[in-house]
Amino acid sequence: MKALIVGAGGYNGGNVARLLAARGHTVRGLVRDSARAASALKEAGIDDVVQGDAITGAGLHQALTGVDTAFYFVHALDAPDRRTDERDLRAARQFVRAAQTAGLRQGVFFTTLAPPRGARPPIYQHNRLRVEEILLDGIPGMSAVRAGMVLGARSRGLLPYVKLVQRAPIVPLGPWCANRIAVIDPATVTEAIVAAGTDAALAGRSLDAPVCAQPTHQELVRAIATTLGLRRLIVRSPIATPRLDAALIAAVTGEPYGFCRYLSSGNEHDYVIDPARSEPFGGLNPPSLREALRHALRGPRPHPVREPNRGPGGRR
Ligand SMILES: NC(=O)c1ccc[n+]([C@@H]2O[C@H](COP(=O)([O-])OP(=O)(O)OC[C@H]3O[C@@H](n4cnc5c(N)ncnc54)[C@H](OP(=O)(O)O)[C@@H]3O)[C@@H](O)[C@H]2O)c1
Repeated sequence: MKALIVGAGGYNGGNVARLLAARGHTVRGLVRDSARAASALKEAGIDDVVQGDAITGAGLHQALTGVDTAFYFVHALDAPDRRTDERDLRAARQFVRAAQTAGLRQGVFFTTLAPPRGARPPIYQHNRLRVEEILLDGIPGMSAVRAGMVLGARSRGLLPYVKLVQRAPIVPLGPWCANRIAVIDPATVTEAIVAAGTDAALAGRSLDAPVCAQPTHQELVRAIATTLGLRRLIVRSPIATPRLDAALIAAVTGEPYGFCRYLSSGNEHDYVIDPARSEPFGGLNPPSLREALRHALRGPRPHPVREPNRGPGGRR
């Protein structure tokens, strides 16, 4: 198949590009700055590169021409004007228009888990759910693969936690530290994304990726400290708001406040998978939380990954 990766220079986009190339697919990447993304593209085995921008629509037509499937990873989390939502929605609409013109048959949007039924989505999940709606409503063969946190050394989900544990001998966590978050290793989630974008039986569906575990935030922080061989005192601060948490995480980790604000908004609820939505990936075999963290933080440790099931579950 000929596959397009929109956001090929990013963390998850790069992982998907590498796996597709290793499986013998032809891979094209759309990036905003080919010079900046050069080493990531080279490492991912992509030499067919289109420079463009999903928000303005530049390069989308060229990038989508002759493509069988497209993988969409665009997220304007680093928007300097903090207009992340406006940018992400505009990009999704541009992509839909270009995909309709090009007659795109299949694709995947990789996104985050939804909050519990009935809960009002915080800013991060609200953004991702609206983008999912635009993409899946506009492109019949487009699927969504939702996941909690990807446990990769360079994953933007895990990195702030690791920096927090490395830099703060006393780790203050708000009352949300008892909420659960699904975590998944990069190898398994990459398999799931590739399956959703290449298996015609999974086209047009909204699915949950499998999990390594669903720890509380406190258990996750403890596991990261243990993996890094660090003794950390975790204290529960009685008061926490997403803004306060974001300011604290930004101060300790050096990540931009706007990014931390989105990230910390996702602490408010449990983010766990719905087993029925994950059923088509039942053949995948994620490692344990301990193994996944060891692999992410201490170096490679291969684990077996089986092919996904062709089961009937997980329909939108
Ligand atoms: N990391 C996790 O733990 C995790 C977990 C669940 C779901 N996800 C989902 O994964 C997706 C990608 O996130 P990531 O973690 O891989 O972060 P990332 O490495 O920052 O990737 C985001 C990508 O979006 C691209 N992008 C931003 N604005 C663009 C534009 N206007 N035109 C074209 N490309 C643009 C970036 O391109 P540049 O290279 O040019 O900056 C980058 O490649 C998001 O939908 C996120 O919700 C991530």
